[in-house]
Amino acid sequence: MIPTLEWTAEGVRFLDQTRLPLEETYVLATTYNQIADVITTMVVRGAPAIGVSAAMGVAIGVQKSPATSIAALDADFEVIAKTLASTRPTAVNLFWGIERMRRRYNALKAEGKNLEEIRQGLIAEACRMYDEDIAACRTMGAHGASLMPQSGSVLTHCNAGALATCGYGSALGVIRAAVEQGHEIHVYADETRPFLQGARLTAWELMHDGIPTTVLCDNMAASLMRQGKIQAVIVGADRIAANGDVANKIGTYGVAVLAKEHGIPFYVAAPWSTIDLATAHGDDIPIEQRAAVEVTHHAGKQLTPHGVGIENPAFDVTPSKYITAIVTERGVLRAPFEESLADFELATPLR
Ligand code: MRU
Repeated sequence: MIPTLEWTAEGVRFLDQTRLPLEETYVLATTYNQIADVITTMVVRGAPAIGVSAAMGVAIGVQKSPATSIAALDADFEVIAKTLASTRPTAVNLFWGIERMRRRYNALKAEGKNLEEIRQGLIAEACRMYDEDIAACRTMGAHGASLMPQSGSVLTHCNAGALATCGYGSALGVIRAAVEQGHEIHVYADETRPFLQGARLTAWELMHDGIPTTVLCDNMAASLMRQGKIQAVIVGADRIAANGDVANKIGTYGVAVLAKEHGIPFYVAAPWSTIDLATAHGDDIPIEQRAAVEVTHHAGKQLTPHGVGIENPAFDVTPSKYITAIVTERGVLRAPFEESLADFELATPLR
């Protein structure tokens, strides 16, 4: 399995996604500040992966805290949680990961555990979240595989694969599961300007698994759809609002509109930790703005004239009317999403 991130006795080991596909190198983060840094700089990225990374950040922060009383640890916990929460604003999994650790922390205190037991309990919780994330991806794959064409091409945008999760992937997990069941799938991977998650990461991990893959520039999808070369689209998500609107990598909205125009099903695959029922509407989702240098430069080389204005929103919102179905580990949701999301939430309350 692709080793996206891993808890070790020395710290959390991350596959450095800024260096893929040319270099397979690792970063060892031994403090919560280093984990915050690894998330901000996108050494690790993808909503489920940063959720678990943040949880591991809390675990490492508490493990390394010099606190000798619960009161002192409470104060440190707040600083750790605040630091990790300020890394990236859009993927709700980040906040979900921190809040789940807070719930466990409070439960351990309520059970009267001592400092060492609390530290060990939080490490165990973060590792449990890691295992659950992989299990959720596999279950999404099982639920979603039949939505994929028996034989044909599927377009994806960004990277919602093993690299964006703790393993197997959400959107790419569905594709992997379909391939494991004998579907003959060819993947078209949008390059995903400006960070090139599709060209660098999706292409790398699908080739790693021997799944036929073609990279296209983002502006080529319309033409391929018009030529009948794409039978389905599947993407991941960073946050799904209560009305079913989906925030995902910038460019997803355009792909969804194109898919509808060409009568191509548009699927979203995401674990339940990506669903944010507290946010009513997609327009309420905070969109991260990243540094202009990601657009103005590539591999250290300047692409644009000095001083030109630059836009770099990292995500956009796809209104739910463009979405054919949302694949989660709890099952496949269909419109009206406001109702199906609420029904599935009631059926299986979040831990
Ligand atoms: O900026 P990134 O690379 O973290 O954005 C990632 C995406 O938009 C993914 O599609 C999303 O997080 C789903 S990953 C399973």
